[in-house]
Order: sequence, then structure tokens, then C-alpha cells
Amino acid sequence: MKEIVNQLYETKVKVHDLTPQALHYARSRANPYELVGRSIFVNRSAVKMANLDALCQFLDRARERCANGEFRFVDLCSGPGGFTEYILWRTKQMGLQAKGWGMTLKGEQDFALEKMDPAIDVPNRFQPFYGADQTGDVYRTANIKAFVDLVEAGSQTEGVDLVTCDGGFNVTGDEWNQEDHSRQILLCQVLIGLSVLREHGDFLFKVFDLYTPFMVELVYILYRMFEKIAIVKPFTSRPANSERYIVCRSLRAKPNAQVLQHLFGVNDKFNELKGDDAAKPIISSHATQQPGFLPREEKIKNGLTEVVHIVDPEIVMKEKGLIGPIKSQNMRLTMWQKEALEELYKYANDKARPEYDQEGIRRRCLQEWKLPIPQASRRPPPDTPYGRDRNNDGRYQSSAHNNRFSPYSRNGGNDRGRNGDGDRNRDRDRRQDDPYRHGHRDHGQAQAHRRY
Ligand SMILES: C[S@@+](CC[C@H](N)C(=O)[O-])C[C@H]1O[C@@H](n2cnc3c(N)ncnc32)[C@H](O)[C@@H]1O
Repeated sequence: MKEIVNQLYETKVKVHDLTPQALHYARSRANPYELVGRSIFVNRSAVKMANLDALCQFLDRARERCANGEFRFVDLCSGPGGFTEYILWRTKQMGLQAKGWGMTLKGEQDFALEKMDPAIDVPNRFQPFYGADQTGDVYRTANIKAFVDLVEAGSQTEGVDLVTCDGGFNVTGDEWNQEDHSRQILLCQVLIGLSVLREHGDFLFKVFDLYTPFMVELVYILYRMFEKIAIVKPFTSRPANSERYIVCRSLRAKPNAQVLQHLFGVNDKFNELKGDDAAKPIISSHATQQPGFLPREEKIKNGLTEVVHIVDPEIVMKEKGLIGPIKSQNMRLTMWQKEALEELYKYANDKARPEYDQEGIRRRCLQEWKLPIPQASRRPPPDTPYGRDRNNDGRYQSSAHNNRFSPYSRNGGNDRGRNGDGDRNRDRDRRQDDPYRHGHRDHGQAQAHRRY
């Protein structure tokens, strides 16, 4: 494992050193699923949700449970709203009544509900909410409580059938530490999710690397609370980034007040450590960097401490049924990420490298996920010397390319390290020492990633 992590970091450094043009060209060719696109929806996330639904059958399961009732869902950190749009569209197709609530930051990545198809009747089936202070910030205790009250009232205190969490923000400049920067947003989504989910409800949760004790402890809580959990990297999640989803099936029982209080306490600690920042409205988004964003090492240098644990790590380490699979998934996903980055590098350096039939793959995927297949429109090739050559060869890609969030630019996937070598090495050493990195066990779902 240690060796693979070293190789991953070396590959990241190599890719990081490519010119932006070469990287741009390589990105559009190296991932077979890059052009799957957004079908009829506002963004690619909607198609990702369809992909995850096809794998995990969230809505088919809901149909069984809600035969005479209403399917209720919560979509957290969810702007512009692709997940919600897919759920509303699919439930309409299934003839299932649905009602959803969502909270996301106002600003650039706010809900774009007005762009959704009027036929899915968003205004009557989904309520966007921005909390007590109207920012939509899930870090604020008052916002969390107001949101939970709203959903409780709307679901007659029963709770919802499905919670989806897709929180993320720009960590450009410190991509290597994306996992650490994401701790609080991940904690808050779990806290809200557990507060609003009904017994036997499902939970879909985006995470990044799972190397640190904090993340393993968060997953431990889910492991204890749900009947089954799996770590899934769907086709639609770019292979060169660290993103993955924890799929949790069937909440055993609503958490008791003590558990929730404990999680609120951990969040209070985060806010306390941020000091003044906790009181300032944040206007960050997936695309724009938070004002005052500091690389982790700099924060520590400035004397800012971190929340490192949520539960006693000794108890967690004894849970072999959890630690083994996390280690094996870390191993598997680290290898895949490394291979995907190597592919990127090869594409950047070899214009003659054979291309995937991305249009064929797009059609197969959309068909398999039962989504409309819009015509692929020709688009000009990337505006690079490479792109122009390609054009002369008569090759093209669909317009879906233009709608993507690049793992290397907008969301700052931690596959592109931009900080100095010193930081890189320090971070690598820290991760290698991590006790959760070794082990071996299979998770069938994640293999879907490599089917083509
Ligand atoms: C990857 S995008 C979500 C995409 C969404 N699932 C969709 O289907 O369109 C991540 C979202 O997390 C939101 N976010 C980041 N920090 C947040 C915070 N503190 N509170 C609420 N939302 C936040 C961003 O503004 C962005 O809308």
C-alpha cells in the first residue's frame, strides 16, 4: 500500500507539471465516460444521480415502501439541484408522489430550479431552504435546527425516505488536503441526515479520501446506524479524482438525542476553532474559493488547531468488519486513481493514442440508466494546438464537454496538487503512517467503475 501511495503522489506530480493545454486535451480523451454529459437535466450531477440510482435502486425501493404514500427526500449541499431534478423527474415517470427539501449555499452554486423542466412541477414538489440566517450554510447550528424543524413539520415527524449529500467546495491551492478541509461539511451533512431520516431510510453521502481517523470515525457512525453500507465510485465520477460515495441502506433506528447532541458538540468545536470566521457569512461555492481559505499547513502554522476525532479511535479500530473493507477500498481506489492519472499523462504526450468510442459509451450509459439520449452535437475541439490537429483529423466531441466541472480546475479534486513539494512530501508521509491504509477486502459495487 505504501508503495502505491508513493506512486500515486509521483504520478500527481507528473500530471501537475503538464501544460494547461496538454492537460485540457488529455482530460477530454482519457476518461471513457467524459462525454456522458447531462442528458436533459441542468447538470451532470443529475446523470450521476441516475447512475447511482441504477446501481443502488433508491427509487425502486421507495416505490415498494410508498405504495400508497408519498416519497420524501432531502437533498443537502445540493445547488444547482441536479440530484433533485433527477429524483423529481424519475418519480414523475414512476407515478410516485414526491416531496423534497434542500439546503445549499446561496451564491454562484445556488439552486437553479427555474431552469428545470416545468413538467416535473418543481415549485409544488420541492422546497429550497436557506436556514435561520438565509445563507444556506450547513455549518451553522441555527440553520441546521431550522432545517430539521421544517422537514419534521413537513413529514409529520416521520422523517424522509432518502437523504442525499453532495457537499464540496473549491480547495484550489491545497488540493492535497481536500479530505481535511472537508471534515466539517461532511460532519454537518451526517448530522442533518441522521436528524431527518426515517427508520429504514437510505443515505447517499459524497466523500473524498478515507485516509484520516476523522473520516473513518464518521463512516463508523454510519456503519453502526445502518443495516448495510458500501463505498461506490460510479462511472460518472471522474476516475482521476478522490471523490466516492458512501451508500447507506436502511437506517436501523432513529438516533437518540445523545448521539445528535454529540455531533452538534463536534460541530460547535469546529465553529469555535474558526473563531470570528464562524460568524461571518460565507459566500463560497463549488466554483469560487471561500474568502479567507488557507492551506492546511498554513492554518497550522498560524496556530489554528483542528478537530481530529469524533469517537474514540480505539473502539473504531476494533471494528474489523469496517476497518478491513475501508483499507481494501483505499488500496483499490488509490490504484485506480493512479492508473487514471497515468492515462491522462499518456494522452497528453501521445496524440496518436487510440480514442475511446465516447459517443457509443454515452449512448450505452444513458440507455442503461433509462435516461433520454439527446443528439450529440458537434462542437469545436479544444482551443489548443492539440485540438486543432484533432480537428484536421476530423474527430469531434459532443457539446456535453462544455458543461463539465473539471476535477482539475473548478472543484479542485485533490488529484492535482498545486502546493510545493515540501507540503506534498509531508502530506504523503502523514498519510503513509495512517493506520487505516492497509488491508484487503472486496466491494463489488465499486467495480462498476471499470466495466468498459
Ligand atoms: C458538487 S456541488 C452539488 C451538486 C448538486 N448535487 C447537484 O446535483 O447539482 C456542491 C455544493 O455544495 C455546496 N456547499 C459548499 N459548502 C456549503 C456549506 N457550507 N453549506 C451548504 N452548502 C455548501 C456548494 O455551494 C455546492 O452547491
